Amino acid sequence: MLIKPDGVERRLIGKVIERVEDAGFRIVAMHMEHLTRKKAEELYAPHRGKDFFEGLVEFMISGPVVGLILEKENAIEDLRRLVGKTDPARADVGTIRHDFGMSIRKNVVHASDSPENASREIKIFFEEKWTE
Ligand code: CMP
Repeated sequence: MLIKPDGVERRLIGKVIERVEDAGFRIVAMHMEHLTRKKAEELYAPHRGKDFFEGLVEFMISGPVVGLILEKENAIEDLRRLVGKTDPARADVGTIRHDFGMSIRKNVVHASDSPENASREIKIFFEEKWTE
C-alpha cells in the first residue's frame, strides 16, 4: 500500500494506518520517500499511455509518500475492500477513499491489485531485503 502525497500533506498517515491495523493487517515494513519521476513512472508502468498517466506521475512526485508492506490472509482482496473504489465519489461509505478522498487523483492511497503487482511494486519501492 502507498499513502499518496495528498494523504501525507493532509496528515492522514495515522488515520490510514489505524484503519489498516484495526482491519487485522500486520505492518511488515514501512518507508517514507519523495519519489523520483523515474520511480513513479515505474510504479505506474501498467498505466503508461493512458490519458491520466502524466498527471498521475506529476501528482505522485508532488510530495513524499509512505509505502507499507502488509501481511494478512487474503490481503489483496481485503485491502482493496477497505480502501474502496478508485473514485471516492463512487466508493462505499466507511472505506478509506470515501471517507478521506477528494478526487479520483487525490484518493489518498494506492493498494496493489494482485500478488504479482504487489511483488513488482515492493521491488521498486523497497530495499532488496524485502523482495522475497
Ligand atoms: P491507484 O489505485 O493508485 O491506481 C492508478 C491511479 O490512477 C488511481 O489510483 C487514480 O488515482 C488514478 N486514476 C485512475 N483513473 C484516473 C482518471 N480517469 N483520472 C485521473 N487519475 C486517475
